[in-house]
Amino acid sequence: MPVPATDISPFRQRRQRVLEHMRANGGGVAILPTAPQALRNRDADYPYRHDSNFYYLTGFPEPEAWLVLVAGPDGDRSLLFCREKNLEREIWDGYRFGPDAAAEAFGFDQAWPVGELDQRLPALLANQPALYAPLADSTALDRRLRQWLGAARQQARAGHTAPDRQFDLLAVLAEMRLFKDDTELQLLRRAGRISAAGHLRAMRHARPGLREYHIEAELLHAFRYEGSQAVAYNSIVAAGANACVLHYRAGDTELRDGDLLLIDAGAEYDSYAGDITRTFPVNGRYTGPQRTLYDLTVAAQEAAIAATRPGAHWNAPHEAAVRVLAQGMLDSGLLQGSLDGVIESGAYTRFYMHRTGHWLGLDVHDVGGYREDDGQGGRRWRTLQPGMVLTIEPGIYVRPADDVPEAYWNIGIRTEDDAAVTTDGCELLTRDVPVAADEIEAIMRDGRG
Ligand code: GLY
Ligand code: MN
Ligand code: MN
Repeated sequence: MPVPATDISPFRQRRQRVLEHMRANGGGVAILPTAPQALRNRDADYPYRHDSNFYYLTGFPEPEAWLVLVAGPDGDRSLLFCREKNLEREIWDGYRFGPDAAAEAFGFDQAWPVGELDQRLPALLANQPALYAPLADSTALDRRLRQWLGAARQQARAGHTAPDRQFDLLAVLAEMRLFKDDTELQLLRRAGRISAAGHLRAMRHARPGLREYHIEAELLHAFRYEGSQAVAYNSIVAAGANACVLHYRAGDTELRDGDLLLIDAGAEYDSYAGDITRTFPVNGRYTGPQRTLYDLTVAAQEAAIAATRPGAHWNAPHEAAVRVLAQGMLDSGLLQGSLDGVIESGAYTRFYMHRTGHWLGLDVHDVGGYREDDGQGGRRWRTLQPGMVLTIEPGIYVRPADDVPEAYWNIGIRTEDDAAVTTDGCELLTRDVPVAADEIEAIMRDGRG
């Protein structure tokens, strides 16, 4: 029998924390389905990826599964509904735990076939004060919740009550997931190392005449070879002017001598995402204008990294990066005016139009609020605290225009690393692949032999 890939105790502890939260609010029932299997074309499926919230609380990898948590008068219960054993299907598709083995292996108090949801949920909801479920997240889920609540209400004449309060379970989980536990930090470090291995391999293989898809193949080779189960998001491999298209994919553009190559790619490891961007010269040496903007981006990233520490607010790294980038835009003639002027007017957004980071975790753009109550009826940026994990990814993108120095036309640069906030600063998870221009040039020189 397959065993769970990882120690199940973190999943149990997270379920316990949700139950404690529910109990502190008077108790109730939480309901959470995993993601459906998605059809790609005709009868071919996309590779299955479980729902991040469901996985966070269960570690259970199969589709057609539901978690039910009960914080009731008789104590806490952690219940799973999942597919039954089916030897015929298992011959074709592989092992299924089935309820009995799943309960044992993943530490549930009880598990039932997923086909018994309609029969069991009304009774589980009866006489509970509150329902915790994803709020307005999917019409399919809303329909089922309505059906179960309706069935629970119909037991009124038998003296039962149905929950009369609903809370958004997604909000509870988003706040929990914002603070990574030790298990998660280990997995994020591993995802970061694997992602870095992919970028190193890409640097070593890049040369004029290859195409973007050749480099994507090198990334995927390294990710998979190092044990990653999937990419964390579609890889961006953008040669030359393509780097100025922020959501470009890997296409078939040729890597030309003298051009830069921007790669934004990350591996997923045991469901946790790596997210790295590096920008390097196809021929192994940055030109003068490329180097000017490259060093500027690295300096902006260093300023943002220095601002990533506990007690700082969420926007501090962005503000630090913008100041450095805006000054560099003035120094290089991309912008005219004063530093405060181009920041206040937003003139710098012509060349730096995205933000400097996002939360990172089970999802590449992870859950978690960016603002919090300020205690005076307003909202302020969230304060960074140990255990939060974010990306730090400044960039500069110069499209051709008459009022822009031609030397910089079509240069697109981004440098992105993943950082975990620590007690006194941050730990960079992705620096197995360097960012300094000299170090990158040395790797490309040595890698080519
Ligand atoms: N690769 C997605 C991002 O950097 O946000
Ligand atoms: Mn990225
Ligand atoms: Mn990112």
